[in-house]
Amino acid sequence: MADDERPPSPDSAGGLSRRGFLTTAGLGAVGLAAVRAAAPPEAEPPPEPAADARLPVTLRVNGRTHRLRVEPRWSLLWVLRSELGLTAAKSGCERGECGACTVLLDGVPRYACMTLALEAEGVEITTLEGLAEEGGLGAVQRAFVAHDAFQCGYCTPGQIVAVEGLLRANPAPGPEEIRQGVAGNLCRCGAYPNIFRAAAHAAELRQGGPDRDR
Ligand code: FES
Ligand code: FES
Repeated sequence: MADDERPPSPDSAGGLSRRGFLTTAGLGAVGLAAVRAAAPPEAEPPPEPAADARLPVTLRVNGRTHRLRVEPRWSLLWVLRSELGLTAAKSGCERGECGACTVLLDGVPRYACMTLALEAEGVEITTLEGLAEEGGLGAVQRAFVAHDAFQCGYCTPGQIVAVEGLLRANPAPGPEEIRQGVAGNLCRCGAYPNIFRAAAHAAELRQGGPDRDR
């Protein structure tokens, strides 16, 4: 067989001998190492704050300013209850299911258990305590009393705050809008019919309607 009829040697497949391939690859690796050596060292990441380190935060709650130092993991609910002594917002599930912890953030109902205290800086926080009017009960609170809209009362602060938020966004809600407005607030006592009546009455009160017994 003539030389030019021989099958290609396994060492020279594709026109590059095994020796040539190894040499090329070696040069490539050396070149890459040289480039890496010339690159500036990567910046060190900033140190993580310790989990229990306290950071400064300024919270506006019910019209008052509070300067505090809080751990980054603390919820707004924890800070309201344990640091500020505002215990109307209740701890129920602490995982965004029951609504017992509802507060207003810039007028919108939010779960305080699902909000980090640090996240609440710069917004107006309103708790049930902040709904009182001139030392007396606010309109929504009076409507809940008038309609007996509670049994054990554990969910009641969250329900009242949720209705307050609803009426700020929609001063005259219909029955279905009221149901939707408190859909995120569970009542294990099943006081819903009276809660719905109280919400409708609260809308009238806020528009100048008279207080009345149920
Ligand atoms: S305690 Fe916040 S949703 Fe239940
Ligand atoms: S009144 Fe008891 S949970 Fe609502």
